[in-house]
Amino acid sequence: MSSPLRVLTGITTSGTPHLGNYVGAVRPTVRASRLPNTESFLFLADYHALIKTGDPARVQRSTLEIAATWIACGLAPEQVTFYRQSDIPEITELTWFLTCLTGKGLLNRAHAYKAMLDKNAAAGADPDDGVNAGLFMYPVLMAADILLFNANLVPVGRDQVQHIEMARDIASSFNHQYGEHFVLPEAVIEDAVATLPGLDGRKMSKSYDNTIPLFAPREQLKKLILGIVTDSKTPGEPKDTEGSALFQIYQAFATPEETAAFAQAYADGIGWGDAKQRLFERIDSEIAPMRATYEELMTYPERVEALLRAGAAKARAVATPFTARLRHAVGLRPLQALAETRVKTDKAALPSFKQYREKDGLFYFKLADAKGRVLLQSRGYASPKHCGEAIAHLKAQGWSASPALHEMAAVAEGASAAEADAALQALREAA
Ligand code: TRP
Repeated sequence: MSSPLRVLTGITTSGTPHLGNYVGAVRPTVRASRLPNTESFLFLADYHALIKTGDPARVQRSTLEIAATWIACGLAPEQVTFYRQSDIPEITELTWFLTCLTGKGLLNRAHAYKAMLDKNAAAGADPDDGVNAGLFMYPVLMAADILLFNANLVPVGRDQVQHIEMARDIASSFNHQYGEHFVLPEAVIEDAVATLPGLDGRKMSKSYDNTIPLFAPREQLKKLILGIVTDSKTPGEPKDTEGSALFQIYQAFATPEETAAFAQAYADGIGWGDAKQRLFERIDSEIAPMRATYEELMTYPERVEALLRAGAAKARAVATPFTARLRHAVGLRPLQALAETRVKTDKAALPSFKQYREKDGLFYFKLADAKGRVLLQSRGYASPKHCGEAIAHLKAQGWSASPALHEMAAVAEGASAAEADAALQALREAA
């Protein structure tokens, strides 16, 4: 079997999960986590939340809500790696490494940042009004999320595709500069449901305030669904499925057969009240069984905390050793490694004396240059002590200084007196 594909995605913890998040992110990632030969890394992007909100209680609450949602929707924490971004300090460390080789120009082109510039331009405000540096750096943090775990596939909404492309660019720059460390990730887009419309027909989004919370109590869910905008056609008039938010939401929950039957009901002139009732029942039949688990987890946040800590340990078992390799790659290294090379080169560069005993029972020494070529060869001595004394004389004076020294050792064949003197001088200087 080939090695499993790594699938990774995160959800920013800045709000309460709604049907759009469920259909576009939670449900597909839970399904993907059950596919054979895949490994899922799913996380709560709470560092990202700080870009959008300065409300600590909201970040904390949203973290619990999103974690509880994922589990209630069938994520099996023991079968995946399920964690909170801020429990993995390696992510911020990698963010810095990546920051230092990301062109500012690349970030200037990010949609989320450019949208702010356009908004400011339209309002006649300073271009960077209300733009924090976190928003500017958002794509780098996201690249670190992905690259730290060498994810192959990243399921995201269409609006995030540019960020995955940037992660690829940044990974290539790193690999080019420091060697192959990162896999180049690919985006996976759930096309059929990439954008679920909200109550007003625009994309369901916290920023439009048109969302239907995923785990709204049954009665509230019904009320919200009754509030979805429709045209003013009366019961009995055929309805258009094209451009109907109601229909699109239905389709995201129904089987193709159910959707075909609903389209037929539109053609047959179903009243909007009945159509909304059918949508409500279809959604509620999928959500109701999960709602109980969600409410239970919201009541016992300590259980969620324990799951997340176990998940962080699993994630760090991957992240910590990998980060150690990355630190080495960029040059954040222990200095003693340099001392070791110094000792080696110094030793290698110097001539040396070697002492030994021959079969005749006498003690000898020779002087060899750095490459091991013999320059001086001693006569035999009665003891190592005498050898040592002769070496000390040669080291102190060189070989040519007096004939007495020539008695101690002779220039070896192929070597010269000048070489022997130079070697002895080198030894003197190094001492
Ligand atoms: N930015 C993503 C969003 O708002 C969330 C996110 C953060 C993410 N890091 C990620 C998604 C890494 C995929 C991979 O939807």
